[in-house]
Amino acid sequence: KTPIPQAKGLDNTLALIKEGFHFIPSRRRKLESDIFETRLLGQKAVCMAGEEAAALFYDNEYFKREGAAPKPLKKSLLGEGSIHGRDGEDHRQLKRMFLSMMTPERLEDMKRIAVEEFDKKVTEWEGKEAVILLREMEEIMGRAGMRWAGLPVKESEAKERAEELSQMVDSFGGSFERYQDGKHARQSHEKWLEKIIKDIRAGKYNPPAYTAAYIVANHREPNGKLLDLHTAAVELNNSYRPLVATAYFIVFGALAMYEHLETIAKLREDKDNYSHMFSQEIRRYYPFAPAMAAKAKKNFTWNGYKFKKDQMVVLDLFGTNRHSDNWIDADQFIPERFANWSGSPFAFVPQGGGDHYIGHRCAGEWMTVMVMQAFFRYMTHNLTYHVPEQNLAYDMRRMPTMPQSGFVISDIRKLRAFP
Ligand code: HEM
Repeated sequence: KTPIPQAKGLDNTLALIKEGFHFIPSRRRKLESDIFETRLLGQKAVCMAGEEAAALFYDNEYFKREGAAPKPLKKSLLGEGSIHGRDGEDHRQLKRMFLSMMTPERLEDMKRIAVEEFDKKVTEWEGKEAVILLREMEEIMGRAGMRWAGLPVKESEAKERAEELSQMVDSFGGSFERYQDGKHARQSHEKWLEKIIKDIRAGKYNPPAYTAAYIVANHREPNGKLLDLHTAAVELNNSYRPLVATAYFIVFGALAMYEHLETIAKLREDKDNYSHMFSQEIRRYYPFAPAMAAKAKKNFTWNGYKFKKDQMVVLDLFGTNRHSDNWIDADQFIPERFANWSGSPFAFVPQGGGDHYIGHRCAGEWMTVMVMQAFFRYMTHNLTYHVPEQNLAYDMRRMPTMPQSGFVISDIRKLRAFP
């Protein structure tokens, strides 16, 4: 058997927090290995990257999620008892619930609602000197997500509820302050959702049957029981909160347009579905989700490496998207690479890998890509703006990361009425 190369250090949790997106890739480089062992959160952890490693990681025969996600992540970003940590039939049952929300009609609804919210904001922006695109996009996505999910949001509270979602999304990655904000935002948001779910169950509030609010409130577990109130709130939140993450990709898209000016004309023309290739490359190239954790279900040997039951394993999502085995000039931004892409479910994993139905791959992936494409089209067809001097560098040690300035735009003009 081959021993797994060891990364230096007694416990590397602090190094992970300090180095962010570089943590796994830099150790892989140093050890010249796509797999290495370290200690994280007081336990042994195997970190790995690449298509083959992702195929293993998403094989339900070998890995489980129970007990894999760190506790703070559940208290802020994901919610306690959420789908992310479930396994087997329990997971698949709940996953079917999520995917039943993602019909083509509902995805079209989301696209329409999100672009409508965007267009409304643009009208406000025209009266302003400048805006921070990331902050605005977070609010747009938050508002769109809550509307799409069928929540009774009053205009007076919409901004605040959207802000809670942004705080949850910004809470991972190790800063104690952001974690606290995320945790408090989650507590407040869950309380609000629990009341809504109660009202739906009592027939006091009646959202349409195709909405996430209706579907989660009325979902029954295999034992015939409704989800307990707290779990229902957590999962209802999981059905629209992550849309806020798309705000980061929209901002990175704006950055890519600014740094690669030729992409603007190509987006306008949209030949061969260029906006799709552009969106895919944004998701591949720019950092958002760094890694996922799982635990070995049993003892096994893979490629000569021994894995122990209950051992923590971390898959480098960002590093897999940039792996030179699968991507030519992996560190270059080249949307056209997606024109002839093989479509491997394990080489391109910005939102997880494998199969959406039987595995943990992101339930919102189709929606994310649709909304991104629609926004990039809107930005190049309906809008002009100026990008003033500012610090656009993004810090690879921060998770999640974004251009330092949040991407300020000024002199905003709507070119045509919408739609
Ligand atoms: C799971 C990323 C948008 C709902 C995940 C996972 C990642 C991810 C990395 C975990 C994969 C794994 O466990 O192996 C993202 C990113 C997004 C995004 C980067 C956009 C920028 C969305 C949207 C929704 C959504 C828009 C819903 C509207 C979910 C759900 C899961 C999930 C429900 C849990 C799936 C499961 O455990 O089976 N996402 N996501 N996500 N995502 Fe997303």
